[in-house]
Amino acid sequence: MTSIRILFVCLGNICRSPTAEGVMRHLVKAQNLDWQIDSAGTGGWHIGDAPDVRMAQAAALRGIDLSGQKARQVQAQDFHLFTHIYAMDRQNLADLEAARPDKASAHLQLFLREKDVPDPYYGGAEGFEHVLDLVEARAKELLAECKRSVRSARLVGGRGICDKV
Ligand code: 4NP
Repeated sequence: MTSIRILFVCLGNICRSPTAEGVMRHLVKAQNLDWQIDSAGTGGWHIGDAPDVRMAQAAALRGIDLSGQKARQVQAQDFHLFTHIYAMDRQNLADLEAARPDKASAHLQLFLREKDVPDPYYGGAEGFEHVLDLVEARAKELLAECKRSVRSARLVGGRGICDKV
């Protein structure tokens, strides 16, 4: 298994979390890192759907490819399979906390630490650009934080799982 396994979670898994997945995959690929990146929704209405066309088009204009993604719902096993689960807003975080099985190993956190990535679904084009701005900035930080943690885990003989990100 790869050392870092990240799951991004929003409500529908067609706007925010697929964007986070696409941006993070892009960064990880550019650095040849063998990390697993995925996304899911707390809700099941869009299972099997491709990302929202408005989101996918806005991402493509920034060189981020969301094609090939299909929405899925969070499963209990995700809390064991992933090292890190990032909720895109506080409601997603609350729903994940309620669904989290006992003894689950994943670190569960709000993606932006203290604020939500606003849901762009019912708004205009600027909402999708705003999601991309927020996600691109935070994903770069996450990459650096995870790389630092892998390095320090190796130094102390750990298995490369970052605890503090
Ligand atoms: P997401 O956006 O959680 O960022 O994927 C939404 C997509 C669909 C709906 C709500 C939010 N919906 O109500 O169908």
